Amino acid sequence: LQAKDREDGSIGIRCSCRAAICGSCGVRINGRPMLACHTHLDEAAERSSDGTIQVEPMGNMPVIKDLIVDMDAVHWKKIQRVTPWLINKEPNPEREYPVPAYNMVDVTQTMACIQCGACVSDCLSMEVDPLFVGPAALAKAYRFVGDPRDAQQFERLKDLAEDPHGLYDCTHCFKCIEACPKGVAPMSQIMRLRRRAGNDHHLKDRN
Ligand code: FES
Repeated sequence: LQAKDREDGSIGIRCSCRAAICGSCGVRINGRPMLACHTHLDEAAERSSDGTIQVEPMGNMPVIKDLIVDMDAVHWKKIQRVTPWLINKEPNPEREYPVPAYNMVDVTQTMACIQCGACVSDCLSMEVDPLFVGPAALAKAYRFVGDPRDAQQFERLKDLAEDPHGLYDCTHCFKCIEACPKGVAPMSQIMRLRRRAGNDHHLKDRN
């Protein structure tokens, strides 16, 4: 922002909250995907051998301009792929739908995602297979697969287990865990989905 202010007003960068909440300022800083607003310049400089801070657009997404990537073309498309909302069981309860605390604790980590795309940027599987559903979308899928209120827990799991670009396309590179600024650990959520798909007699019994 300082460079845009003082050197070149045409620099394209996206940001909004400047408080690590909105997820719009994802960029690569010295090769690592990070939230620009959540990165101190001195810490960024320490990570390079000569103190240079190199800022680049995120990976795995087409660049629209300078540091702005096309999130719609990749990230949001993949999020939409997993139906990112709760599908209510019918009939709707007359009052609120109580959920056991442990079920909510189980999905809380996935709810911390701010959709910044940092995990997508560095996903090695997606680099090889651009059709891979990807870490952010699969973490989002766990949010609903793990929610007992959802009417299609089984169908969601089956769909992602059978998709050749789904659950089993992840190669456990850990890049998404390192990249996530919010501790969502998308790869761990993918492993949880796999455990459910594997153990869950759901898949076998209901087939
Ligand atoms: Fe909102 Fe950085 S500007 S997360």
